[in-house]
Amino acid sequence: MAKIAIITGSTRPGNVNTGVAQWVLEQAQLRGDAAYELVDIADYHLPVLDEAYPAGYQNYQNEHTKVWSAKINEFDGFIFIAGEYNHSVQPALANAISYLNAEFANKAAGIVGYGSAFGARAAEHLRGILSELQVAHVQKTGMFSLFTDFEDFATFKPTELQAASLAPMLDQLIPWTHAMNSVRQGQLVNA
Ligand SMILES: Cc1cc2nc3c(=O)[nH]c(=O)nc-3n(C[C@H](O)[C@H](O)[C@H](O)COP(=O)(O)O)c2cc1C
Repeated sequence: MAKIAIITGSTRPGNVNTGVAQWVLEQAQLRGDAAYELVDIADYHLPVLDEAYPAGYQNYQNEHTKVWSAKINEFDGFIFIAGEYNHSVQPALANAISYLNAEFANKAAGIVGYGSAFGARAAEHLRGILSELQVAHVQKTGMFSLFTDFEDFATFKPTELQAASLAPMLDQLIPWTHAMNSVRQGQLVNA
C-alpha cells in the first residue's frame, strides 16, 4: 500500500493548520486506499535553513536535517496543507521543504489550501516549488475559506460544499503516487 504523508504548513502557536491536517487525515483514512500519516513539521524543530550545502548534495551536517530526511524518505506521496501568508506559501513550509530534495523528487503530491481566498495563491506558489523538486502535483486542490470553513477563524468546520473538494484531489493523487513509484523503480533499473 502506498504511504502518503499529510504535511502541515504552519508552526504558528495556535495555528489552524493542524486542525485541517487532522480532518484531512480522518477523511483520507476512510477511503482505505493508502496508508496515510500526519507529519507535523513543528515536531521536527527545523530552524531557518542552516545547512551549508544545497539539499541536492545530500551532504547534511545537522541532526535535525537527518531526522527530517529519514522521515520524508518513508513516503511515496504527500498532501501539503498550505495556508496562505502574504499571498504565498507559509514560510515554515517553504523552509521545511528547502531542507530536502531527493526525498521529495519523483513522488506525487496533492495540495489542500486555506485562506481568505481559499488559499489559492499559496497553492499556486507551492506548485512552483514542487515543480522545481520534480514532484508530480495533481491538478485538483482541496480549497477552504477562512470565512466559511472555520468557526471564529479558528476551529475547522468545513461546509459540505468545500469538504467535497478533497475527494477529487485524492482520486488523482493515488494513481499518480503509484505511477511515480514506477518512475523511481525505472531510475534504479537504469542506474
Ligand atoms: C504573516 C501573515 C500573513 C497573512 N497573509 C495572508 C494572505 O496573504 N492571505 C490570506 O488569505 N490570509 C493571510 N493571513 C491569514 C492566515 O491565512 C490566517 O491567519 C491563518 O489562520 C494562518 O494559518 P495558520 O493558523 O495555520 O498559521 C496571514 C496571516 C499571517 C500571520
